[in-house]
Amino acid sequence: MRPLTTVARIACLSEAPAGVETDLLALPWFDDDNPDSVPGLDAAAAGDVARALQSREFCAKPFEILFVRVSGWRTRRVALIGAGPRASFGTTVARRLATTAGLAARTRRIGALAFVCRIASASAGRDTWTSLAQAIAEGLVLAEFHNGSFKTGEPAPPIPSWTVVADAAPVDLAPALLCGQVLGESSNHAREMANAPGNVLTPREFATRIAALATSGGVTAEILEHQQIEALGMGMLLGVAQGSAEPARLVVLRYDPPGVTSGPVLGLIGKGVTFDTGGISIKPAELMDRMKDDMSGGAAVAAAMRAIGLLGAPIRVRGVIPIAENMPSGSAIRPGDVLTSAEGKTVEIINTDAEGRLILGDALWYARQLGATHLVDVATLTGAIVVALGKITSGVFGTPDSWVDQIRAAGDAAGDPMWPLPIFDEYREQLKSEIADFSNTGGRPAGSITAALFLKEFAGQVPWAHIDIAGTAWAEEARPYQPKGATGVAVRTLARLALDAADWAGRV
Ligand code: BES
Ligand code: MN
Ligand code: ZN
Repeated sequence: MRPLTTVARIACLSEAPAGVETDLLALPWFDDDNPDSVPGLDAAAAGDVARALQSREFCAKPFEILFVRVSGWRTRRVALIGAGPRASFGTTVARRLATTAGLAARTRRIGALAFVCRIASASAGRDTWTSLAQAIAEGLVLAEFHNGSFKTGEPAPPIPSWTVVADAAPVDLAPALLCGQVLGESSNHAREMANAPGNVLTPREFATRIAALATSGGVTAEILEHQQIEALGMGMLLGVAQGSAEPARLVVLRYDPPGVTSGPVLGLIGKGVTFDTGGISIKPAELMDRMKDDMSGGAAVAAAMRAIGLLGAPIRVRGVIPIAENMPSGSAIRPGDVLTSAEGKTVEIINTDAEGRLILGDALWYARQLGATHLVDVATLTGAIVVALGKITSGVFGTPDSWVDQIRAAGDAAGDPMWPLPIFDEYREQLKSEIADFSNTGGRPAGSITAALFLKEFAGQVPWAHIDIAGTAWAEEARPYQPKGATGVAVRTLARLALDAADWAGRV
């Protein structure tokens, strides 16, 4: 592993809770815990823990919080964070508990938070400790995100100093905490970009920010402009961009770990539509403002590349982010137009609002030209995936199944749940065109599947997976561990996939 260049901001402390000097001590609390589960706590709280449990003021339901004052400990305040049933505890719950504690500390303007890594089973091994510590670090850093950055006169509540307390860890947790910190920060960078409105985050601005972000992780960035995109023959990317006053961009990111010249090359492709009006097939006004986040997939790829660089993944990675603004105008593409892709295949445009698959098709082709042997694309691609899976789970599609399984495993570890949908050949009928090789929409039935099949046309013969994050990129409802707004979905999954390349290289 190459040396990390990020400064560690999460302290690691091996200390019993009573000895931790902090402003607020967060203790995960399972629903089968009793007042004596943490020795000395109830006495220090003058019986308040037992009373709250007895009266059911606090039942340890997931993410419920009980604040108690303690005396005789080095902290004056403890927050019990409801962790629910012990049996369902794992990295996902740990990450969310940490964010819950972090956000609670921030809203109260607390200067220092210490989070106690209480592990469900006493016999937990090294891997369990490190993966939980990493998840807690991710969760704490996720609490640093602030979506009100455009408000004047209302500064973001300050970020507390973070400490993770683990007095029984069998290993040094510092590397896991730093890894979690980098992944949390990267997720927040993606959220920040998705949160930026279309007038601020224009295609040119997005390309510039992506390049800066990737470079900060030691990844090289190249921004292709109109002429270069034209020279590559990317008729689909240029077609989508032609209705906008803003020119298209194609950002290419390259990560080459020192000494690695053979083996697989991971290609990450992310949809970068900085604003999606629908084009001539214009969207209704209601909720159109949400379409500023239609570049979340591209932001996820860029942010994951930063993490991949900083954490020194063992595999070569290429990031390709096609960027355009989908606008209606006198120069916009029309329904019925035929576009020629860089691969040479022709596409009849039935609906100009099915623009994501167009720009991604050219980018998938380009990732293969760059030598990618394994492809993953991430996109806010279809409203239909929200109907199918709601806002909890991303859809995943691809081939072969073993590659899709890898993506799902990475998603589970990263806290980005996904569920597979089929891409049977029979669905492809829906994309038939009378005049071109195929059309860009397949009608309402199975809308997410036909979108995936469109992308498959440009994935060649290499393992390819497509993650549809239209439902998961933006939280409409606030949760204790997830404020409203951009979620940073898929950032940690993509990074995980590259970091764990040894698990799948040569096998998929
Ligand atoms: N960006 C949208 C998909 C989307 C919808 C994202 C809702 C987030 C929330 C995409 O470009 C789009 O417009 N898809 C169309 C495709 C249709 C015209 C075949 C859709 O899903 O309606
Ligand atoms: Mn659209
Ligand atoms: Zn779109």
